[in-house]
Amino acid sequence: MSQPVAIIAGASSGIGAAAARTLGKNGYRVVVAARREERLADLASQIREGGGEALPIQTDLAQVEQIQQMVEKTIQTFGRIDVLVNSAGSARHVWFDEHSLISDIQIQIQSNLTGAIQLTRAVLPWMLTEDRGHIIHISSISSWVGVPTYSIYSASKFGLRGFLESLRRELRGSGVTVSEIYPSAVDTEFAQHVDVHWKTPQILPKWMLLSSQDVADQILRVIQKKKKTAIMPGYMGLVIWANAHFPGIVSWLLSKAFYRKEGKRVAWLKADE
Ligand SMILES: NC(=O)c1ccc[n+]([C@@H]2O[C@H](COP(=O)([O-])OP(=O)(O)OC[C@H]3O[C@@H](n4cnc5c(N)ncnc54)[C@H](OP(=O)(O)O)[C@@H]3O)[C@@H](O)[C@H]2O)c1
Repeated sequence: MSQPVAIIAGASSGIGAAAARTLGKNGYRVVVAARREERLADLASQIREGGGEALPIQTDLAQVEQIQQMVEKTIQTFGRIDVLVNSAGSARHVWFDEHSLISDIQIQIQSNLTGAIQLTRAVLPWMLTEDRGHIIHISSISSWVGVPTYSIYSASKFGLRGFLESLRRELRGSGVTVSEIYPSAVDTEFAQHVDVHWKTPQILPKWMLLSSQDVADQILRVIQKKKKTAIMPGYMGLVIWANAHFPGIVSWLLSKAFYRKEGKRVAWLKADE
């Protein structure tokens, strides 16, 4: 019972799966949550084979009751929640006027923003009663810099940052820590769901790409050091700074990278040519 417990939402792939493995190896009993049940079962088996303890719970963050049930099951099974890592999210790479109402807009807002808020709301009462706990959300550089063709993604991540900043201030003086990690491009299957014609590794120089393990290691550091925020890689802080102070220059640079081309829906650098 004394072993800490972490809920990882969005654990069926990418950063969430890496975080679950990493926390599983570092003494956490992990609850792995997402929609794809088989993936969660495989991940839980891997964690158990490595000597850890894992409980898969199928959860759709668009369904508030499912979030609540997942949190209740965690407390029933393990009797505590020490850490929430929310790595669930999705994006679409579409010019705003070409968005479809449901698939492009609602799904992103639900998975990136309202799902994140409901998940936080579900674990917080327990953490406040215990006066301890750590809530970590995986956000994005897009929560600081609006990028063409990612308008809804940026809107959801900007919204998440506003929510977490307010919450952090509300919880000041309590034992609950709220953290946010802002990665730039990470080599996961995210790009496939984004519906792009290219994969991140092909478009960005390799040295710029993060791996899911890089982010999982950062999550562990954030927990151990109770860090409030982490920009990944650190030099992306310059981009955030430049966007705040010289938005015109950033807009001009982005217009060179994102542009419409006749006969093609989206063009991005030379990848579509
Ligand atoms: N990859 C990047 O370049 C990058 C860069 C910056 C930030 N991020 C952020 O990092 C986080 C993780 O992304 P990733 O790169 O690891 O992508 P990924 O491999 O596609 O993982 C996304 C996870 O979110 C889950 N998810 C999506 N919608 C959900 C819903 N309605 N309910 C429950 N789970 C849901 C997916 O699981 P199911 O489909 O099984 O439900 C999956 O486990 C996201 O928040 C993303 O915005 C990614």
